[in-house]
Amino acid sequence: MITKAIYYFSLTGKTAALVEDINQQDFPVIRLNNKDPKQFEFGNEEVIVIGSPTYGRGVPPMYFKQIINELRSLTGRKIGLFGSGNTIYGEDFCGAIDTLEELLKQNNEIIFKYKFEGYPTDKVKNKFYEMLKLD
Ligand SMILES: Cc1cc2nc3c(=O)[nH]c(=O)nc-3n(C[C@H](O)[C@H](O)[C@H](O)COP(=O)(O)O)c2cc1C
Repeated sequence: MITKAIYYFSLTGKTAALVEDINQQDFPVIRLNNKDPKQFEFGNEEVIVIGSPTYGRGVPPMYFKQIINELRSLTGRKIGLFGSGNTIYGEDFCGAIDTLEELLKQNNEIIFKYKFEGYPTDKVKNKFYEMLKLD
């Protein structure tokens, strides 16, 4: 069986809301907000799904800067990216997802990018669950 896990950061709960109903036995869900960035390490899962909102011009939250060495250490993984944003930011809508893609695509395979606006609706959640089946 393919090993997989979701790691996400969320400031106001909208990115978090996409994964809140996921059965952790199917897919471990790790909230980064609660983890000391100095101690944080990714697991050795084959599929790593990372969630990040965007706060200003394609910039992921500071947490991701603090774990940049861990992000750079990921190699040979299948990576899914998701995050909430707001379309009023135009071309920068969910830009953090593109920034993470640029960083991670060098040594990994990006299998999906999933951008959504505000809180996810049930339709938005169901589409994401389909992507997570990955088989
Ligand atoms: C200061 C600030 C800057 C933001 N910049 C962007 C941006 O560049 N692009 C974007 O899509 N959304 C931007 N947003 C909107 C947030 O990404 C959006 O509210 C998102 O749903 C927050 O996700 P979270 O609840 O998981 O933290 C910004 C919000 C704030 C407060």
